[in-house]
Formats: sequence, C-alpha cells, structure tokens
Amino acid sequence: MSYVVIARRWRPQQFDEIIGQEHVSKTLSNAIANERIAHSYIFTGPRGVGKTTTARILAKALNCEKGPTATPCNECASCKSITMGNSLDVLEIDGASNRGIDEIRNLRENIRYTPTQGKYKIYIIDEVHMLTKEAFNALLKTLEEPPEHALFIFATTEIHKVPATILSRCQRFDFRRIPLKTIMEHLQNICKKDKIDIEEEALLQIAKKADGSMRDSQSILDQIISYSGDTVTFADVAQALGVIHQDIYFKITDYIKDSQIKELILQAKEVFDSGYDINEFLIGLEEHFRNLLVVRSTESTEFLDVAENYLERYKEVAAAFSEGDLIGYLQTVAETMQQLKTSQQPHLKFELGLIKLAKQPATAQIEDILEKLNVLKKKLLNQT
Ligand SMILES: Nc1ncnc2c1ncn2[C@@H]1O[C@H](COP(=O)(O)OP(=O)(O)O)[C@@H](O)[C@H]1O
Ligand SMILES: [Mg+2]
Ligand SMILES: [Zn+2]
Repeated sequence: MSYVVIARRWRPQQFDEIIGQEHVSKTLSNAIANERIAHSYIFTGPRGVGKTTTARILAKALNCEKGPTATPCNECASCKSITMGNSLDVLEIDGASNRGIDEIRNLRENIRYTPTQGKYKIYIIDEVHMLTKEAFNALLKTLEEPPEHALFIFATTEIHKVPATILSRCQRFDFRRIPLKTIMEHLQNICKKDKIDIEEEALLQIAKKADGSMRDSQSILDQIISYSGDTVTFADVAQALGVIHQDIYFKITDYIKDSQIKELILQAKEVFDSGYDINEFLIGLEEHFRNLLVVRSTESTEFLDVAENYLERYKEVAAAFSEGDLIGYLQTVAETMQQLKTSQQPHLKFELGLIKLAKQPATAQIEDILEKLNVLKKKLLNQT
C-alpha cells in the first residue's frame, strides 16, 4: 500500500473536526440547519488553516443524499465523490492557474446546467485574488444573478487583493492562525494514533516552525518521521530543521553576563562552522531575550512558548538582568541582523554583534551612576 501523507489522512471530514475555527464551523452548521445558505462565501486567512477543508465539508453537507445536513454522512455516493475529488457537481478551480477571462466564461457557461447528483452546483475557487480584472468582472455578473442551484466558495490568503465589488456579494469568514499549543496537541494526537513516540520539545520545534499553519506542521512531521522513524527526538528535529538548541542561547547569555569575550568569540566560530543560518540563529537569540524580558517584566512564564523544562531556567536567568539591559540586547541583535543583510563578512559582523552584547553597559550600572551624580549635584548646590 502506498503511503498517504499525514495532511491528507488527517483532513477533517466533519465540521466539528476542524480545529481552531469554531466561529466558522458553528455559523455554517447553523446556516445549514436553518436553511439559510448564501450564494457566495469567501474564506480568508493564512495557508494551511482549514479553508479548503471547510469548503469541501460545506459542499458535502449541502449535497449529501441525506442532506442538506450539518453532519454529512461521508458514505453516500455524493459525499464519497467529493472526498475523492471527482464530483461532477463540486468543481475546484485553482485561481492561480485559471486566472483569465476564458476560464470564467467557461464557468458561466457551465453553471447554467443543473447539478447531476446533488442539490447544488458548487464552485470552489482557491486563491481567488489571482484572477485578472476581466475575469473578476465576468465573475461579478454571475454573482449578481446566480442560478438558484449555484454556490460559490472563494478562498484566499490575500483578501485585500479581491475587489470590493466581489467582497460585497459574499459572506466573509476569517480563518485564524492556529495557536502553537493547539498545533502541538493535534500533532501529539496524530503521533499517538500512528504509534510514533515523540519528545515534547520535538513537537514544540515543529509547531514553531509551522508558524500557525496546521498543514505545514503536518508536512514537517511527515518529513521528520521519514528521517527518524517512529521515535522522534528533539535532536532529530534539530538536525532536520537546523534548529538551534536553546542551551546555546543560555550559554551565550552567561558569557554576556560575565563579559567572557573569549568564550563568545569561540561560540560565534562554532555557530558559524556548524553551518547554521546566522540570521535564523539571531532570530532565535532575539526570541530568547524577548522571553527573558517578558519573564522579567511580568514575573511570570505564562507568555513563553518554550518547552516546560526551560521555564524555571528562564525565571532564574531573567532575575540577573534589568529590563533596560534586555531591551538594549534586543536592539543590538536587531542592529546586527540589519547589518548582516548587506555585509560581505557575515562571520565578522556576527562575532562583533556578540561582543557588543557583552560590552553593553548594564543599565543598572548607568542608573547607579546617575543616582550618584544626582547626590553629588545636590551636595554641591547645598554648599553654595
Ligand atoms: N483547522 C484545521 N484543523 C485540522 N486540520 C487542519 C486544519 N487546517 C488545516 N488542517 C490540515 O491541513 C491540511 C490542509 O488544510 P487546508 O484546508 O487545505 O488549508 P488551507 O486551504 O487553509 O490552505 C488538511 O488536510 C488538514 O490535515
Ligand atoms: Mg487551500
Ligand atoms: Zn452523504
């Protein structure tokens, strides 16, 4: 049997299986139950968060032999053909490769015919913002007077590129990025069912990399499983994704605190020699200082997206710095990233950046000096 990728195997087949988009699935389920179906919907949001999945479930819900129903059976001929992607009544069009007027003319020609199997003829147009102006105009005419049996579901990652005239004729749903913890939980479930043993920190790194996209998280997981087999450790993920171990950042922080310049230079060399992407490394360092700043300012670790075993460590280390110090570090890291963009000698700039961090006068000290100066000034004033 050939391998089916996780993202396909785990595509939700019911509204209540769609994670993190309850505001959408609830409204759509209610609309179906109350027979208040619009003629055109537009789904917007980042990639891999469930837009196409929701469009297909909606199509099934409407065309199910037992429907319209908010819980399509997934068994009847109509449901099955939609799952397989070969329903004659549900047409998926990729807006990016069918951008022109001819394609939309075809569609207008085609839409007049009544559905063969289900009750609706449903057009799912993905990346609809890619259509040309002429194509949009042609589409608009259909949207103004759609046949009774027609339903449009548009999906886009760039809603601002869709003309207002189109938007005003659609019911709009905004899909959200999926929170990091939610992605981790879902991946954990998948691993459990697939009998994959995976470390929490490995899950964390995958979810981080996915940056709010459930599909990306699943693709990365697939990639890593094919690399590491059914036991996945943090080291596997680090290796596959080029993730930098949090420990390195803590080490650097120690060196900065104690002004250990020699160690910093050695560390810079090691990072460079290991072939890490320097920019990624600095993004990680920035996040590390951000974490320290947040812990220092809020005296809590609840806003950190790090593995459990680092929480205590963040608390400890944050106490050694002032907010001013950490803000200064963040600035220096940002400057270094900026300079790296144009530098001919990235290694040098990187190393200098680390040294600058260590040489940065602690704001605590500066405040101390200012305080002393003030006392002195007062004394002088009193003398005269
Ligand atoms: N909200 C979600 N809940 C559960 N799985 C999801 C969700 N969003 C995406 N996925 C997973 O990612 C895959 C692709 O999702 P898709 O709906 O095509 O994303 P989009 O159209 O927003 O780019 C699905 O097959 C599913 O495995
Ligand atoms: Mg899609
Ligand atoms: Zn059905």
